[in-house]
Amino acid sequence: MRQSELEALLKDMSLQEKADQLLQLNGTFYTGELDEIATGPIMEMGLKSEDICQAGSILGTYGAERLKEIQKKYMEKQPHHIPMLFMMDVIHGMKTIFPMPLAMGAAFDPSVAYTAAEIAAKEASVSGLHVTFSPMADLVRDARWGRVMESTGEDAYMNSLYTAAQVKGFQGDSGNLREKYKVASCVKHFAAYGGAEAGRDYNTVELSEQTLREYYLRSYQAGIDAGVALVMTSFNTVNGVPASVNTWLMREVLRKEMGFEGVLISDYAAIEETICHGVSEDKADAAEKALKAGVDIDMMTSCYSGHLAGLIRGGKLEEGILDEAVMRVLQLKNKLGLFENPYKDADPEEEKRWILCEEHRKAARDAACKTFVLLKNERDSDGTALLPLKKGKKTAFIGPYVENQELLSSWAVTGSKEDCVTIRNAAEAVLGEEAVFACGCPIFGNDMEIPSFNGNIRCDVSEAERKGMLEDALKKASEAEQVVLCLGEHSAQSGEAASRTMLDIPEIQMELFREIYRVNQNIVVVLFSGRPLDLREISRKARTVLEVWFPGTEGGNAILDVLTGVQSPSGKLPMSFPYCIAQEPLHYDHYNTGRPNPNGRVEKFRSRYLDAPNEPLYPFGYGLTYTEFSLSEVRLDREQMEADGMITASVIMKNEGTVFGTETAQMYIRDLTASVVRPVRQLKGIQKVSLMPGESRTVSFEITREQLQFMASDGKEVLESGRFAVYIGTDSTTENCAEFVLI
Ligand code: BGC
Repeated sequence: MRQSELEALLKDMSLQEKADQLLQLNGTFYTGELDEIATGPIMEMGLKSEDICQAGSILGTYGAERLKEIQKKYMEKQPHHIPMLFMMDVIHGMKTIFPMPLAMGAAFDPSVAYTAAEIAAKEASVSGLHVTFSPMADLVRDARWGRVMESTGEDAYMNSLYTAAQVKGFQGDSGNLREKYKVASCVKHFAAYGGAEAGRDYNTVELSEQTLREYYLRSYQAGIDAGVALVMTSFNTVNGVPASVNTWLMREVLRKEMGFEGVLISDYAAIEETICHGVSEDKADAAEKALKAGVDIDMMTSCYSGHLAGLIRGGKLEEGILDEAVMRVLQLKNKLGLFENPYKDADPEEEKRWILCEEHRKAARDAACKTFVLLKNERDSDGTALLPLKKGKKTAFIGPYVENQELLSSWAVTGSKEDCVTIRNAAEAVLGEEAVFACGCPIFGNDMEIPSFNGNIRCDVSEAERKGMLEDALKKASEAEQVVLCLGEHSAQSGEAASRTMLDIPEIQMELFREIYRVNQNIVVVLFSGRPLDLREISRKARTVLEVWFPGTEGGNAILDVLTGVQSPSGKLPMSFPYCIAQEPLHYDHYNTGRPNPNGRVEKFRSRYLDAPNEPLYPFGYGLTYTEFSLSEVRLDREQMEADGMITASVIMKNEGTVFGTETAQMYIRDLTASVVRPVRQLKGIQKVSLMPGESRTVSFEITREQLQFMASDGKEVLESGRFAVYIGTDSTTENCAEFVLI
């Protein structure tokens, strides 16, 4: 449709019809006949059956046949036959599930996330979907927050690269949403959802404007610059005002300053929740505030549908403000080509062809291999380490994750655990007789109960069964030469509404670990987690630790690829792993303070803890490989840079070991003196370098003003002359550094 046709359409719509274009309901409203629904969910929400027929969009339901049927049925009922939008959380895969987003961050390679998004878009679009609520661009610094697993980590620069890559992956490089196999992407949760106080989900966010702009807003901006079609509001308050009714945040910052012109959707029920926040009197008041703030779609409440028409009739709202929001929704439908083809790519035949096809599974497996982080791989006196596993050695695979298919992580609602390849499946195929298996214990004991999307999860193993499991595991561990111990959090221990105050592995598994350690100390821990954990004991006792996060559908195969050395680990930590929980929130790009405490000095009147180091156990950017790389000193091609000039910083990297490997060269910059305090260092460049044994390569980074600018105290980007330090290394603690002056 041309814009003039959209305008004519809008003009012809009734007030209620317009309000309903802004209503988003979930699929349960469209499961049966209207009469049945009218007595159930509609009544509970205070909606009329007419609103159901006119709703602009549906969330959380998929399948080509089903969505085609809904589209056909409800377009007939809609007075102007306007097609619906179908939206869903397709976060890290549709049916072929890739590693969880934090793991993708560990690849330190946005192209991996691009491919995952492209494949997810293909599977989603043939399943009838038009919009995905992804990527989550929230910066995270507190491992207690369960949703760190949905982020790509603690660094604003990396998150920006990943956000842009995912938006492009979903929407295509051209951004033409009519293209086949593309879906519209939605950057969320605007803004600063990851800054929840004390890591408790949905909690208050208090940030200085400088911190908000300099750290938290950057990745959303990257999504907008990449052409994202939608943005989602966050549940939290931002400096006292809930984001979903925060006019300054949405109209001034998001629309005017950041240049977002697409559809702004509330998070689930977030408009109505402003009543609970204590800033809206009732639903009508919430609707008025949210629309005034510029929120276009009301997800899953009747605030807009039930009240906007009345507010306009009563003179509390201008009709123009409603028209503005409805036009944006119509424009999105038009960009997707739905007025001409309401079913877009929905096609049952294509679903069969693409969903979980070999090509997609292979991409998921390759991606997973790149996300694993080798935290420790101790060598013995003759220089050999446990990984990669050596042929001909008997290996006992022990632990609750050996046969567990729950490898998808919490936000993978379209995936099925039944499609997952377990460690045992893969190990049997690769190692045959050399491998034996035992569960050892359940993931958690009878002392715990974990709420999940599908009800509460409990452990139903009796004491006698547990004893039997342990005995079997101990027997197999003592007869084997080495043990691969597959441990970790339950997948429902991270994700939405899954904040924790302890970053531990369930005690029942730690007991198993200690028991196994008594009989066999050649332990490789394969660690599953949705967040950084406190690994003090594990990392002290186990000879090898491999973090595999929640690796997705092809998890088992990927783990075996890396354990056996078919692929070498190359992941890097996208979040600091704390020494202990009390260090949280924790991030490498902190300020120095006036009394820093370098090298853990024991001295009074320093900024330090009495009982723990300031440093994390494993820092941001850290991760080992099966080989060793050396780096030369940092070389700068000049010592001074002009404001519009450029400096090239380089190092020579060499593979000093005997096997092929991939390292990540990381460039950090520190502004040594500025008008506001600058972080001790900030990541400004990454490059993956793959080298054969003995091979070396020069790795160069270009430094321009973009990497040196920062947010001054008045909220404006500035470039200030002075000294800068450039670090190039393989994690965020590198001291390999050179200095230059910006004149
Ligand atoms: C989450 C969003 C999600 C939405 C729709 C909310 O609870 O915060 O991230 O997109 O539900 O499923």
